[in-house]
Amino acid sequence: MKTQVLGPAQENLQAAAELLRSGQLVAFPTETVYGLGANAFDKDAVLSIFAAKDRPADNPLIVHVWCREQLKDICEVSETAEKLMDAFWPGPLTILMPRKESIPLEVTAGLPTVAVRMPSHPVAAALLKACNVPVAAPSANRSGKPSPTSARYVYQDMDGRIPMIIDGGDCDVGLESTVLDIGHGKPCILRPGGVTRDMLEKVLGEVDVAGSVLRPLQQGEVALSPGMRYKHYAPNGQVVLVEGEEQQVVGALRRLCEEAAQNGHKSCVMCFTEHAEQLADCHPFDLGSIHRPEETARCLFDTLRRLDDVGMDAIFSEVLPPEGIGLAVMNRLGRAAGFHSVQAEDILRD
Ligand code: TXA
Ligand code: MG
Repeated sequence: MKTQVLGPAQENLQAAAELLRSGQLVAFPTETVYGLGANAFDKDAVLSIFAAKDRPADNPLIVHVWCREQLKDICEVSETAEKLMDAFWPGPLTILMPRKESIPLEVTAGLPTVAVRMPSHPVAAALLKACNVPVAAPSANRSGKPSPTSARYVYQDMDGRIPMIIDGGDCDVGLESTVLDIGHGKPCILRPGGVTRDMLEKVLGEVDVAGSVLRPLQQGEVALSPGMRYKHYAPNGQVVLVEGEEQQVVGALRRLCEEAAQNGHKSCVMCFTEHAEQLADCHPFDLGSIHRPEETARCLFDTLRRLDDVGMDAIFSEVLPPEGIGLAVMNRLGRAAGFHSVQAEDILRD
């Protein structure tokens, strides 16, 4: 299959909408990451998403809408859900709601809830409006790869597997949406994203964060969100997180990187802009400013992909406090590292 990459002109969106309505797949930009869309009412179209991504069938998809009208055929909307939509839609918040019959079980992997969001990206909104069916769309990467934040990465993963990619430039948030469970007592963040815990608590009162956000699932622990079970976002090289006081971290990064190089590894560091000069001979990959975690969010997946492109096999990274958007960053970075971390002072003491 030939994969066309087209800009977001209205006629291209019309062509993409036609494809979607006829049961085919289209990749499109959203404010978080690129999505790989199919008509959510069409079981066979939905199944072809799993095939194109090599995605396990037990990992459910997010359904995208452009207006709330569409929800009447998708899910039951509670008062809490309405409040959340008033506050955060369109935007990077996915809400779990009881599924209606017209959404095939293939979308929800057999679960009684369906995940729904209304993206704010103008190209996503225009495409969803043009096709006017709800669109099931996971991130447009091959399973196990970082989510794509530009059309170039979608092409890398999906060339020959889907007919069309709409190129809307780089994604603004850079990490996937917040997934929120509101069906089990206190609301619970299953996956942190651009809508932060603080923002949600202003609207809902206290909000929990699933334990597995900042650590691996424990043996026998049930994944509240099936996606948490899978190894995600991992580059081919081993990532190690280095924690501690700022200047000690810089020293430890240098030592770890040099030692790994001496042992024959292709080693590098991921560090904040403010430390790049001090680490100039450690092959620094820039994570943005230490004072602007949204920059780290925006560039993280791009950085993880570039590490693979140059074949780095030992990667030492700075960390952020797990607050605000930093929680989403540390969830993705933690999983990229298999939650492998060391203390800077221990490294410098040895
Ligand atoms: O920002 C995003 O959310 C992007 C863009 C394209 O919208 N989409 C995205 O989809 O990241 P995906 O499939 O890569 O991640 C969906 C996550 C998975 O972790 C999945 O397990 C969880 O949402 N999920 C979906 N439906 C669920 C449900 N009914 N219950 C619990 N978790 C669910
Ligand atoms: Mg994904």
